[in-house]
Amino acid sequence: MKNNHHDDRLDMGIQCRSGCKLFVVGGAGYIGSHMVKQAHNVGYEVIAIDNLVTGYRDAVLYGKFEYCDILDARRLTQLFTQYKPDAVIHFGGYSIVSESVRDPYKYYYNNVAGSLNLFKVMVDTGCKKLIFSSTAAIFGDPEYLPIDEAHIKKPINPYGKSKLMVEEMLKDFDSAYGLKYISFRYFNAAGHDPEGELSERHDPETHLLPIVIRAANGERGPVNVFGVDYDTFDGTCIRDYIHVNDLVNAHLKGLVYLNNKSNMSTEINLGNNNGFSVKEVIQKIKDIMNKDFEVIDEERRDGDPPALIASNKKAKKELSLSPDYVSLESIIKTLA
Ligand code: UFG
Repeated sequence: MKNNHHDDRLDMGIQCRSGCKLFVVGGAGYIGSHMVKQAHNVGYEVIAIDNLVTGYRDAVLYGKFEYCDILDARRLTQLFTQYKPDAVIHFGGYSIVSESVRDPYKYYYNNVAGSLNLFKVMVDTGCKKLIFSSTAAIFGDPEYLPIDEAHIKKPINPYGKSKLMVEEMLKDFDSAYGLKYISFRYFNAAGHDPEGELSERHDPETHLLPIVIRAANGERGPVNVFGVDYDTFDGTCIRDYIHVNDLVNAHLKGLVYLNNKSNMSTEINLGNNNGFSVKEVIQKIKDIMNKDFEVIDEERRDGDPPALIASNKKAKKELSLSPDYVSLESIIKTLA
């Protein structure tokens, strides 16, 4: 197998010397489109790849766009042969916990079979650097907080299981084929491009922050709180919100990490080491926007763990990460 890639083109900072090619799979989605913008800004030649099932073509504002489904091995092979990317960032997965409980086939087929297909094409065409979008959902109900990388992995929904399966596949692909990877476990990605060019667009929207912002703006009816009887201080679920640009910057550092031959493949949790309950989030948005709206206590939503908070120790140590958005207020302000 011939490797056509030029490892010396990645700089030690996040800046990339020109000519460094990056495939952003799922580049038309929420996090992917923010990734495309930042990677372009630091000098990567970016090619966004997306099947536009949940992504939007007009969210790819920089670089090139190629339509492709990760289940289509022929088309993938054609694109990898044509562009010869230096690295891949793979955001191309479905990510709604409750949907995965209702329709597990969709999650195992796209997230697991699709990723397997993508990794095989990468290996066959000599592209051996990957950043994979994993999730806090691989941990299931936490046994302790904050959740570090050593925490037991017992996902409680098909979405988390699908991502854990891919993490396991990657370990074997590294041993057998030398595919070097980082699996980033995102906690709750939130916020928008601070320059206002990009936003979070999901249809239907299921995520807490955009729903609450819409309620505050009078663009929808009441906010439902899914579960008020969890074993948390106010009975509602606790999540660790991390700004999308901080997530994206972690990927830029991750690309540099992968380029350093002495670094091993690894798994890293990405969050702010800080959790907020659903009711706290709602109150903060009411305060910041100075708006009131109706809030209705509802039954629990399927598949939701009670609390997810990331330990950010390993991210700091391995990638020297220092987030720009440490407070929930600063994240909300990019949305409001
Ligand atoms: N919630 C409500 N009302 C709503 C929407 C959400 O009470 O209208 C609650 C949820 O039940 C949950 C919390 O707000 O307790 C956060 O829900 P989100 O839908 O915003 O996010 P999730 O925690 O369900 O999931 C997100 C990503 C997943 C990822 C997970 C990791 O969508 O891909 O974060 O923490 F796995």
